[in-house]
Amino acid sequence: MATDENKNSNLHNEDYEYDTLTNDRLIKGHNYDGIRELDNALPPWWVWLFYLTIAFAIIYSIRLFVFDADDLVQAKEFNKEMAAYHAKHAKSEKADANFKIALLTDDASLAEGQKTWESICAACHLKDGGGLVGPNMTDNYWIHGNKVQDLYKVVTNGVIEKGMLSYKQQLTDKQRLEVVSYILEKLHGTTPANPKAPQGDKY
Ligand code: HEC
Repeated sequence: MATDENKNSNLHNEDYEYDTLTNDRLIKGHNYDGIRELDNALPPWWVWLFYLTIAFAIIYSIRLFVFDADDLVQAKEFNKEMAAYHAKHAKSEKADANFKIALLTDDASLAEGQKTWESICAACHLKDGGGLVGPNMTDNYWIHGNKVQDLYKVVTNGVIEKGMLSYKQQLTDKQRLEVVSYILEKLHGTTPANPKAPQGDKY
């Protein structure tokens, strides 16, 4: 009994009574409509978990308030992430600066361009480039010019009011250059099944 008493130092032997059937130790007076409160010790795993949270809180508070830890102060964490973002962004802008809009003629690039053409562009321009909603790509008539830079500009910015979308987000710079190279190298000058009437100026 002496060890039991140590578990709850503020309670004394006279505060307990024992269940007549099970001999479980009950706290006197804690009787709510026949529901009795047992005097069980807390399980050790629970107690240790509780001590752990206390230790965590102390270490966390010291790091936050005394040492101003970078990853705990929200304003600092925010600035750090923003700086990382800008560093990364500046890098990709630099990469863009090196990018040159010049006709690609190698087979690998043209094959990539063809994939893009057939999966995205053919819906409006037809697979053979004959034109449907969008203009014919096989003839010598162009609305926005016949240079690779002209076509690249149309695909990048779109002609929204005429129904040509901007592919700035959906396709990378390289993919846009590949697909316009495919138009000029492979579709232009061919004879499509149902060519759309010429649009724009003759070049
Ligand atoms: C939703 C239909 C649609 C899709 C999809 C589409 N286009 Fe177009 N495209 C158009 C229309 C309409 C025009 C004509 C714009 C104008 O009248 O100024 C056009 C014009 C163009 C032109 C300029 C032609 C000229 O005569 O100057 C190019 C180049 C072009 N599209 C390439 C593409 C490429 C490459 C894709 C795929 C990545 C694509 N288009 C997908 C509808 C589309």
